Amino acid sequence: MRLPHHVKMVEVGPRDGLQNEPQTVPTAVKIDLIDRLTAAGLPVVEVGSFVSPKWVPQMADTADVLAGISPGEGVRYPVLTPNMVGFEAAMKVGVGEIAIFGAASETFSQKNINCSIEQSFERFAPICADANEQGIRVRGYVSCVLGCPYEGDVAPAAVADVARRLLEMGCYEVSLGDTIGVGTPRKAVELIDVISESMPVERIAVHFHDTYGQALANIYAAMSKGIAVIDSSVAGLGGCPYAKGASGNVASEDVLYMLDGMGVETGVDLDALCAAGRFISEHLGRPPSSRVNLALSGTA
Ligand code: HMG
Ligand code: MG
Repeated sequence: MRLPHHVKMVEVGPRDGLQNEPQTVPTAVKIDLIDRLTAAGLPVVEVGSFVSPKWVPQMADTADVLAGISPGEGVRYPVLTPNMVGFEAAMKVGVGEIAIFGAASETFSQKNINCSIEQSFERFAPICADANEQGIRVRGYVSCVLGCPYEGDVAPAAVADVARRLLEMGCYEVSLGDTIGVGTPRKAVELIDVISESMPVERIAVHFHDTYGQALANIYAAMSKGIAVIDSSVAGLGGCPYAKGASGNVASEDVLYMLDGMGVETGVDLDALCAAGRFISEHLGRPPSSRVNLALSGTA
């Protein structure tokens, strides 16, 4: 089996993780967390979202978070921008990378960004055009790739279509979101097979939520297909406010332990990552949702 030698870990905890927290996390805590993740060696840390504060109040301070962090050399700090309002706000504060987020399910698209899949592409087009003109990198997300909380099964062809359109619009990478964590390895592999018919595997990232405990198995299966970009969330924080039952993303510590154990390079330090996970968990008043972090800190 061919596994990648190097994996790029994309840390989404400060965004996908914290967006789901009901209590407001102070800006200073978010900044501290992001600086710790930078120090742990993560190459990409998604810091927040320029979305409606009425929809996701926790992300309302993203501009202040960005202004407060100490950027690491070569580290990228993308933010989510669903429309031109969000894109312009991100440009005002000098963001170098953004992410647009669509879905392979109509109902989820409506619930998450209040428009149809087709309308979402109409919103993304000017964002991508402006971003590409200004040299801003654009990442694309597709949600509900292995199932939708409202529609159930989602056809791989529908996911492939949205992924291809994102790529054609100028996204350098498309992240496949198993938003509610229902996927299993065989389904994940079948999906990647279908998608890689219309785009190079190097441009595909995987983004598994761990609701059903399948995330690590799915990641391993995806790696066997050549996938080398993995999204994860420190301390297993997370969920999507518009996907009922969506628990945390796969924990970054668990992913890193597996990759380290298989000799796959990441450039990320496990001890420092675990310390970052404990830092935010202490703030939230609960243990990390990471088996590895619990085991290494002797609290498992
Ligand atoms: P809308 O209500 O349809 O927008 O929301 P609108 O254009 O009609 O504007 C309504 C109001 O919102 C106006 O203000 C706008 O100015 C304001 P008002 O006149 O009422 O005072 N507004 C904004 N304010 C700040 N930033 C903006 C913005 N846009 C409009 N960008 C919208 C449409 C997309 C804004 C809304 O639906 C929204 O914010 N949704 C957020 C969804 C979200 O963040 N979901 C979680 C992230 S996605 C996810 O977690 C999945 C992922 O992890 C992958 C996976 O796991 O599958 C990525
Ligand atoms: Mg997510």
